[in-house]
Amino acid sequence: MALLRQPLLLLARSQQVKNLVSTLPVSAGIVRGYVPGEGTEDAVRAAGELAADGLTATLDFLGEDTSDRAQADATVAAYLDVLAALSAKGLASGTEVSLKLSAIGQFLPPDVAPEGGHRVALENARTICRAARNAGTTVTLDMEDHTTTDSTLATLRELRKDFPETGAVLQSYLHRTEDDCRQLAHEGSRVRLCKGAYAQPESVAYQDAADVDRSYVRCLKVLMEGQGYPMVATHDPRLVEIATSLAGRAARPQGSYEFQMLYGVRPDEQRRLAASGERVRVYVPYGQEWYGYLMRRLAERPQNLAFFARSLVSK
Ligand code: FDA
Repeated sequence: MALLRQPLLLLARSQQVKNLVSTLPVSAGIVRGYVPGEGTEDAVRAAGELAADGLTATLDFLGEDTSDRAQADATVAAYLDVLAALSAKGLASGTEVSLKLSAIGQFLPPDVAPEGGHRVALENARTICRAARNAGTTVTLDMEDHTTTDSTLATLRELRKDFPETGAVLQSYLHRTEDDCRQLAHEGSRVRLCKGAYAQPESVAYQDAADVDRSYVRCLKVLMEGQGYPMVATHDPRLVEIATSLAGRAARPQGSYEFQMLYGVRPDEQRRLAASGERVRVYVPYGQEWYGYLMRRLAERPQNLAFFARSLVSK
């Protein structure tokens, strides 16, 4: 099954396969397992249901790699809409948003963004951070493939000058990440640590799952012993156990760090951790652009491929 990971991650970037697969309705079983719906109301409903179960959420309006300025603007508008809806429903304090810079302009070509995609994404992210603060919540910048790491961390530094509550994501499969954890383990810093979900070359990333896990533990140790707020994003039972014990060794009380898992993945474990007093946040993706996200989830769990194929045939 591990052999299927790289091809599935390459398909995640294929426009032709995307065109075929995206004709599936979001209600198709395999999509619905990971995405609660397409609209603001679906995301807010999911956040409300999670809150009723003692869980917090981070909402992600799906989309990535846009080269279209209108689409980047529409993504900003979607975030403003969902933040207003969360505020109106009294859900903003337990629900933040996650944001991909490539969805709000990072890769806009010079003919549509003469000022540069990096600058457009920074200004758009600022607009969303301001709306989040006004609603009483925060933004975390998702991390995409390794070619974007420096630019995303540079944007984080700029944003944090005005919005120091902005969170970052670091990926343990990258060789550089232990150093990045040291840089970001300071007071007020919020860091989500995950394994990493993209196909990355050997020159920059560990290829062996055991090496990625060992790196995760080293990074987690740095974050737990630091002054920031670690966000432990994994479904891996061993890493969840290690995180709890590292928190204990660093004399961190529950609530001075949190666990994070994806919507639809190990929901019973999410509730078990919350019932044991841990803070648990569920990452809730919503919107029409679910293709790349779904392919990365299938790469992590190729056992779901048969289910996925049945959804395509029976659509
Ligand atoms: P691993 O993949 O080893 O899975 C451990 C166990 O979890 C599996 O044995 C299985 O039981 C269960 N599981 C895992 N994936 C599953 C799936 N898709 N379906 C069903 N069961 C599954 N990545 C990134 O590059 N940039 C980012 O910004 C983020 N953001 C992010 C936020 C949050 C809250 C989470 C939880 C994850 C991310 N990720 C991410 C994804 C992350 O990098 C990683 O690809 C996945 O979390 C899977 O890795 P695990 O740590 O869960 O381990």
